[in-house]
Amino acid sequence: MSQIDKPRILIVDDDEAQRSAMSQLLAGWGYETTTAFDGRNALEALSDFPADVVLTDLNMPNLDGAGLLAELHKSPSPPPTIILTAFGSADKAIEMVRESGAFWYLEKPAQPKALRAILERAVAQAKLVRHSQRLERQLSSRGVLGGLVAQSESMRRVFALLEQAAPTKATMLIGGETGTGKEVTARAIHDLSPRRASPFLAMNCAALPDTLIESELFGHEKGAFTGAAERRAGYFELANGGTLLLDEIGEMPIATQAKLLRVLEERKIRRLGGSREIDTDVRIVAATNRDLREGIAKGTFREDLYFRLNVFEVTLPPLRDRREDIPLIAAALLDGLNKRHECRVTGLSPEVEKLFSEYAWTGNVRELRNVLERAVILAGNGLIRPEHLPPGFAGLPNRTVESTGSEVTLRAGVTVDEAERQLILMTVRHTGGNRGRAAELLGLSVKTLFNKLKQYGEPQDGQTEP
Ligand SMILES: Nc1ncnc2c1ncn2[C@@H]1O[C@H](COP(=O)(O)OP(=O)(O)OP(=O)(O)O)[C@@H](O)[C@H]1O
Ligand SMILES: [Mg+2]
Repeated sequence: MSQIDKPRILIVDDDEAQRSAMSQLLAGWGYETTTAFDGRNALEALSDFPADVVLTDLNMPNLDGAGLLAELHKSPSPPPTIILTAFGSADKAIEMVRESGAFWYLEKPAQPKALRAILERAVAQAKLVRHSQRLERQLSSRGVLGGLVAQSESMRRVFALLEQAAPTKATMLIGGETGTGKEVTARAIHDLSPRRASPFLAMNCAALPDTLIESELFGHEKGAFTGAAERRAGYFELANGGTLLLDEIGEMPIATQAKLLRVLEERKIRRLGGSREIDTDVRIVAATNRDLREGIAKGTFREDLYFRLNVFEVTLPPLRDRREDIPLIAAALLDGLNKRHECRVTGLSPEVEKLFSEYAWTGNVRELRNVLERAVILAGNGLIRPEHLPPGFAGLPNRTVESTGSEVTLRAGVTVDEAERQLILMTVRHTGGNRGRAAELLGLSVKTLFNKLKQYGEPQDGQTEP
């Protein structure tokens, strides 16, 4: 582990011998430490040594442990603070944990095993706090929330709702057309929640046959059905403590919907073929690109489940309704694609920007990503230009053929008609518009050439049809 990665612990004690013994012990466990001899000295030390965790004695001159804790808690994100107490002052320490926000307390002499376990938990908490602060900073400064990039008014409203709802345990329902970012949103909800250190799992209800969905969700015991050779845990058990995304929830069989509803209400599951009830603590996020209310009207979706799921409902707007997001999202995607394909594409040419701003994007951000991935590979570096876009994109002529001077370059994907068109037009240009000479070079009759040019909409230049 490099020096930078070591968790930093500030040790505060008025007893010199205790300080240095503690410092040695913690250094041996891989922590970077610094020491202070009282509360005042600790506050000074923190300005040079941004500690992840503070480990402090209680009774000290000048500013004691309680005073230090109070000072630390004047900052918006104080480091977790562990109190070491002399024998007999546990009551005061417990009160500090309860009332004043101390992380935990230990009676002296601290048992190394207990101390080490508590330090590890305190460091883990400090990391989580830093992680969520980083997310918040990203959001306010650059229009980023988790993996979502956006600056449009409609997406800012989505961000605001996510920020409020994500830290809670509430079930969420995410709607939106295909490719609008429902899965990325579900991940952002998880990452902004206190569950972020626990698993995030996604189950796609549309990708599983009806017969398998329940065993995937709830698990099964050995021999529960033909083929169940081993006991298996389901998504609810695997995601315990974390978040489970039920993707394409509209495709869930109605019988499974009833069981899911029961699990959401009772927070207990039973494996298929099992009798034991297992407690679960899973935050459910459901996603759908359909209007579930239509399903309710048609009898394919349970109304009670719908109301259970949409405690918070987020609908991601289609990309065509928030075109101001396109340049920002494209820049973020280009970053990732450059890395992935070892390319150095710098951005979009003005023509491409214009084409993108007018295009319908029926596949939303996923389509944008696909178009950019192809373009990055074709361009390799510099700007993405119209010829790097898919043939026929936004009504562009088919650019898999390129003609410059007296050469035609063909790429896979071009139609024979288009290749012929380019070759004919280029040959006519090459002969300075002499159609007789061009026909000869092309091995065509003048009449055929004339007809082709007419078909291409080329201006007639006075030559009469022979
Ligand atoms: N706001 C965004 N910023 C950056 N990337 C995004 C954004 N929205 C979506 N993406 C990217 O677009 C692609 C599709 O996103 P995602 O899989 O979340 O869509 P979806 O709504 O779940 O689609 P589907 O309904 O087809 O499952 C992913 O590559 C994702 O990273
Ligand atoms: Mg999806």
